Amino acid sequence: MRARALPSNRYGRFSEDGREYVVTDPRAPRPWSNVIANPRSGLVVSHTGSGFSWIDNSQLAAITRWQQDLVSDRSGKFLYVRDAESGEAWSLSPSPTWAPLERYACRHGLGYTVFETSRGGVAASWTLFADPDETAEIWIVELRDDSGGGRARRLELTATLEWCMGVSPAPRREFGRLFLETWPDEPRRAVFARSHMWDVSSKRWGHWNTSFPFVSGFAAADAASDLQGDKAELLGRYGDWPAPAALSQPRWTRRFGRHEDAVAALRVPVALPAGGTFRTVFVLATGASPDEAASLLDRLGSVSAARASLERVRAGWRERLAAHRVETPDAALDALVNDWVRYQAISARLWGRCGYYQQSGAFGFRDQLQDSQVWLTIDPEKCRAQARLHAAHQFADGSAYHWWHPLTEQGHVTKMTDDRLWLPFVLASYLRETCDLSILGDEAPFLDEGAAPLSEHVLRAFRVSFSKTSPRGIPLIGAGDWNDGLSAMGLEGRGESFWLGHFLAGLLGEWSGIWTRAGRADLAGEFADRRTALVSAINAHGWDGAWYLRGTLDDGTALGSERSARGKIFLNAQTWAVLSDVAPPDRAAACMKAVRERLVTEAGALLLAPAFDAPQSEIGYITRYAPGLRENGGVYTHAAVWAIAAAAKARDTALVGRLLDAIQPATKDPERYWAEPYVLPGNVDGPDSPHHGRGGWTWYTGSAAWLHRIVSEWVLGVRPEWDGLRVDPCLPPEWTSARMTRPWRGATCEIEIARGGAAGVEVDGNAIEGNLVPAPEPGRTLRIAARIP
Ligand code: GLC
Repeated sequence: MRARALPSNRYGRFSEDGREYVVTDPRAPRPWSNVIANPRSGLVVSHTGSGFSWIDNSQLAAITRWQQDLVSDRSGKFLYVRDAESGEAWSLSPSPTWAPLERYACRHGLGYTVFETSRGGVAASWTLFADPDETAEIWIVELRDDSGGGRARRLELTATLEWCMGVSPAPRREFGRLFLETWPDEPRRAVFARSHMWDVSSKRWGHWNTSFPFVSGFAAADAASDLQGDKAELLGRYGDWPAPAALSQPRWTRRFGRHEDAVAALRVPVALPAGGTFRTVFVLATGASPDEAASLLDRLGSVSAARASLERVRAGWRERLAAHRVETPDAALDALVNDWVRYQAISARLWGRCGYYQQSGAFGFRDQLQDSQVWLTIDPEKCRAQARLHAAHQFADGSAYHWWHPLTEQGHVTKMTDDRLWLPFVLASYLRETCDLSILGDEAPFLDEGAAPLSEHVLRAFRVSFSKTSPRGIPLIGAGDWNDGLSAMGLEGRGESFWLGHFLAGLLGEWSGIWTRAGRADLAGEFADRRTALVSAINAHGWDGAWYLRGTLDDGTALGSERSARGKIFLNAQTWAVLSDVAPPDRAAACMKAVRERLVTEAGALLLAPAFDAPQSEIGYITRYAPGLRENGGVYTHAAVWAIAAAAKARDTALVGRLLDAIQPATKDPERYWAEPYVLPGNVDGPDSPHHGRGGWTWYTGSAAWLHRIVSEWVLGVRPEWDGLRVDPCLPPEWTSARMTRPWRGATCEIEIARGGAAGVEVDGNAIEGNLVPAPEPGRTLRIAARIP
């Protein structure tokens, strides 16, 4: 029995299986978007129909133009219909015309979005998605006469987009325009585009002296009566997207070439019999050459090919997410954990590296490594490949890029101190899941010189970190640790980070065990000793009396102390003390009590409190955000999700329940929360903001992959360890049962957790001692039953 069904609100609801979110009122408080991607290309589309498309890098290689304006949200690729008899025109999504619609639904699904509208006796559906394998975006359009008028209709469909073909947002629009070229391809009913200049530096050719390496074509599958390549011709002088002048012009003056303002517009005449239906397809394809793009248009540009592609998209997501599922009394949590956050982590974070609030394109050294943990239970090879990719962005001295751009390989060198350590962190997770030590022998090059197996990459990451320690044994913070915004505390080389101390202490323990298994007893001993020393240094210098300090500034001032005017207590410094077993039991209890009393709000656990209210250059840019926003005293969901794990580890079931409830977007009041109900936001405003409880920065957040992992490993408590699968649930008090199916080292585990009776674990009906289930034979299905009081 479900204690909680899938919630709805005045702007939308979930489909019955939770795999679609249906926006039914276009006046949702903010754009509710979908990030649709395949491993190379994709699009973002909001419920108003705005958005853009990219290939390989959503920032440096945007195919279409988009203006980030979350208030108007009227910028993107649009599809218009015009009744050729009445002359009335509207768009098949609310934007850009905002013509009143008699019916409106925007169904965001895993891998596709559908607009269903009705106006002027025309029922329309417009489906947008990316082919699962090819660098092509496909639109399937269906128009049906539902006027009941009993006569044939003459309509026109006009599909439009504005070419970007390079860096987005174009920093100098009028300059960039001078390099774009468009041309028509009549037989294909297509407009093609390329740019002869790409606003990046290339090692070989220097700045502004290289062409954008892709060509795109936008084609109509059905007879297009008109093609246009120039924006002024399409919109008219001082015209705008809500009412393009060309829609009502019987003939278009075509303009293409290198001297116009590059768009693509395709007009398709539609003869609709009374009560009849018309179906067509538009394809936006991108390749390394015009021929490559053209061949994609030819292959995908039919209704049957497009439908087959859409079916593969849907099947792909179903299969990808099928092997590991949880079932809890909360249907909304299940939909979020099983489907939406994993889709978010894979589609938006790993493939697209893009959201509506952030068009990134880059790989963050720490970010996508953490995200890749989403593959651990379903396709661990992908996590392994991600680890190799990141190792290849490490320098021979052990330090690493903070981020780098695929395609151009531009990278950002900083004095951040934690980035490199996420490589050993993720490798340890991989090893716990798979027990496959061969990963340590995988080779990866260093950025500057040479190549080495991953074990050596890891060792160098540790060694450089060991060398950056304060005289009293605490890791230095440099230009920031996990918290980017603590960017100035340690610029002079003295500021310390206690959070980094916790993180490193946990890693030293893990790797001491890994070195033992890898036959490196010397390292195992060294790491164990280092851990002991670090834990005692943190406990000697990092305890503020009732919680752990966050760090110290270059001048020795403590941050995250009762004595601090602002930023008195930081969440990560407490939760990671618990997660890394740095805190002895009394301190663990005390610091979690401080978390409950000072940081937990109904919107979730705050990253710090109270928020900084004025810039403090000696701390960093975190102090420059308005109070209560993002890291500055907001609920930063990445850290708020870690707090769920810490609460479970501390066996605080009530707190687990509170924090799980707080993180759920679906149950929020949209007038206050604003953000999408189906994916996680990066942050929610804290109490120092007048909008306490308002979500923002949706999609592009590391919390997505983490929420899945933490619900599985800490709430349901099923954690892989070297010698077995730990089954150690910490369910919220009101849950009476939960279930999970997950693959494990070649076997399948079916786990049932029930409350009541004597605690214990049974495997295939036999009680075992303790709660560590030994690794099964590959191919088997294990039935695990856990009882909790
Ligand atoms: C951003 C960064 C991430 C960092 C976090 C906290 O999300 O991408 O790397 O850990 O902020 O500052």
